[in-house]
Amino acid sequence: MAGMAGIATVFALLALAGTAPATSLAASHPSPMTSRTSVPLGAAVWSGCTVATYVWPAGLACPVASYDARYRSTFAQNFDRATAENEFKMLWTQPKRGRFDFRAADGIAALAASASKTVRGHALVYPAANPRWVDKPFFLTPWTRSRLLDVMRTHIKTTVRHFKSKFPGVVTEWDVVNEPFLRSGARDDNVYQRVIGNDWIEQAFRAANAADPDALLYLNEFDADTPNARQRAVYALVSDFVRRGVPIDGVGLEMHVGADGRYPTLVELKNVMAQYNALGLRVSVTELDVLRPIEGDPVLIQRAAYDTVAQACQESTNCDGVTIWGVADRYSWRGAAQAATLFSRNFTKKRAYDLVRCRLNDPKPLSGTWTPKDCGPVELVPETASTEPTGPTGGSSTASDPAPDAEAGPAAAAPAAAR
Ligand code: XIL
Repeated sequence: MAGMAGIATVFALLALAGTAPATSLAASHPSPMTSRTSVPLGAAVWSGCTVATYVWPAGLACPVASYDARYRSTFAQNFDRATAENEFKMLWTQPKRGRFDFRAADGIAALAASASKTVRGHALVYPAANPRWVDKPFFLTPWTRSRLLDVMRTHIKTTVRHFKSKFPGVVTEWDVVNEPFLRSGARDDNVYQRVIGNDWIEQAFRAANAADPDALLYLNEFDADTPNARQRAVYALVSDFVRRGVPIDGVGLEMHVGADGRYPTLVELKNVMAQYNALGLRVSVTELDVLRPIEGDPVLIQRAAYDTVAQACQESTNCDGVTIWGVADRYSWRGAAQAATLFSRNFTKKRAYDLVRCRLNDPKPLSGTWTPKDCGPVELVPETASTEPTGPTGGSSTASDPAPDAEAGPAAAAPAAAR
């Protein structure tokens, strides 16, 4: 019965998706922002399976209607756009050569569209999410540059066109290339780099632009939000692209903040964002999550980290979005016990959510004077992490709920008054 209901839900979502309004975006690259009255807050969504289910087999292991209803409503009520946490990756969409399977990805796009949300397409080329046939071609037909270029271009074109025609106006932007650099700033030694050579990234962007000239195109990278070798490598690449007219609109800053409690300072983040602004590029915080640190007051440190990132985006006029890597702790890839997102294991809103939302609703405008509203102090709701329920990572929507966590309660809803 649950299966039938699930299938019905999918069809209902797909039907609704067809009614989504088309939006028109500028076709030039980089595409500057024309106004800035609020910055969208996104969340990574997934099909409700456990992490283990995702690994293998690709594509079908996870029924798309298996979302927890609270998960769906938390997403719909509190976020403006979605990123598929896994389902748009090549491992899922082209698990066998030439056999495209968009069923799981369509489920995510339909979920977003049915709630009138847009989608960040993530990611067209992500070497760490290659299907096996890309990384290990049959020994009698090893890759040549032209064969692999053809595979990459076909994948990009087919994927982008699929969403453009099936969900018009929904997938407005793409992470075209994901994580192409190493910590040292050297190129990651992946199959595209080895076989195609240095221009594989450029070729990917050109293919994405040809497939949808209206989509915003991003290079997404991890740990490139502070001044370091990888950040400099990203900067060098994208400034070369801008100079030579390779179509690119922005840089995605992932921002998975670790358990050491260290996160970029406001000045560091604003400086990095300003560098891209000077090139006419946007920046988007694409995968923000903050593990609760082991020492200090984990909740306050986490809140301060979220608040700092949101403030950097608020004050940087080229920052066009913040996406949290997960809707709620229950289904976070870091594990529910890490409490890394803005909603608890029981889907209660954390004070950090209100801080982030307050800042993103009040961004520095593109011109004119601006005095930011007071979003209230980070310390508004004192608590200790010891009151946060711990246990195995969530994944089952049938288990009985643990006791509400410490972020719940009237105080968590207070910031509106504090603004
Ligand atoms: C992660 C997902 O969250 C996990 O569910 C999956 O097992 C591995 O990939 N950088 C990225 C994301 O760009 O695609 C990754 O997502 C996290 C790191």
